[in-house]
Amino acid sequence: MQPSKRSDIAPFYVMEVMRAAEAREAAGGEVLHLEVGQPSTPAPAGARRAATAAIESDTLGYTGAAGTSALREAIAGWYRDRYDVDVPVERIVVTTGASGSCVLGFLALYEAGDRVAVLEPGYPCYRNDLQALDIEVVGVPVGHETGFRPTIDQLDALLPLEGLVVASPSNPTGTVLPADELAAVVAWADTNDVRLVVDEIYHGIAYGVPTPTALALGDRVMVINSFSKYFSMTGWRVGWLVAPPAIAEAVERLAQSLTVAPPTVGQVAALAAFDCLDELEANVDRYRVNRSIVLDGLGAMGLDRCAPADGAFYVWTDVSELGTDSQELCRRWLDELGIAATPGIDFDPNRGGDFVRFSYAGAAEDLAEAMARLAGWVERHR
Ligand SMILES: Cc1ncc(COP(=O)(O)O)c(C=O)c1O
Repeated sequence: MQPSKRSDIAPFYVMEVMRAAEAREAAGGEVLHLEVGQPSTPAPAGARRAATAAIESDTLGYTGAAGTSALREAIAGWYRDRYDVDVPVERIVVTTGASGSCVLGFLALYEAGDRVAVLEPGYPCYRNDLQALDIEVVGVPVGHETGFRPTIDQLDALLPLEGLVVASPSNPTGTVLPADELAAVVAWADTNDVRLVVDEIYHGIAYGVPTPTALALGDRVMVINSFSKYFSMTGWRVGWLVAPPAIAEAVERLAQSLTVAPPTVGQVAALAAFDCLDELEANVDRYRVNRSIVLDGLGAMGLDRCAPADGAFYVWTDVSELGTDSQELCRRWLDELGIAATPGIDFDPNRGGDFVRFSYAGAAEDLAEAMARLAGWVERHR
């Protein structure tokens, strides 16, 4: 028996890096982790306390397919307090992470055979999910020339399209779309009848630049988000999407059949996380320090062709001058230096061989040590 053709999607190579790093650790070797795209902190204390209490006292059965009313209302409150935007609760669907939001959202918005554009580099699961749904993926190459942001001319040239998926801040580049450019993309999508998804999962993690929500620009955009990054809760598997009003009911219906409900204990913890903002902001302060260590470290060794790194916790660096494909580079850095980093191929199937993504979500000491080891290696191999 053969797997279906549409399940023949690319592997997520970062998982392979993580596996190689684990194997090295299991054999007694040391690894500095700059590959993992997740906070090194646990869920905030208040969230953990709420989860513990719920485990002791609740049955923790299924919730509604769109999540608990309490959590949906708290998410609406988040948009009111933080962005001054009113989002009706009926448009909010709690999901199994932003990953669940992608599957539900793409299914509800697009038909098989539609043409949907994604940025290159961009988060690989958009491409993989779309392909698995028999949707034609159209790459939008972005690079240093435009700060890794798409231009309207570029988007125009790809028409006709049924959809576009963008993230701000972006994984892997950290690029944030400024308010005017986000508004231009939303208006372009409206004018051209392109169904737009904006992934705002890294909102809350930005360094001196505002991160406007696309929800402030009308109700025809689907926004996805999650408790994984700013809220430091990757393994709890809770995210959400805000659907255009005409789509929300379809999303909920799909959720009923695809997942029944998002994780109950995760929702309890997520609700409590909204009361832990001091702890979460302290995490962002730590990322800010880490970001400088990596940007300064790479700059000092001449690897300074980095994407702007305005948000999230990644630096996307051009390593082409080292003359080795980034997959081979990452393999050697793990073998020779004990440094795990992610080769660009995951994020850009065309030009990823020239780039590496460093995650700075880990400990400052590890990052400083990694930069020192890399500096020596680059010096020897330049
Ligand atoms: C841009 C982006 N979107 C979505 C996800 C999925 O996150 P989760 O399913 O943990 O919420 C990730 C995870 O790394 C991501 O970087």
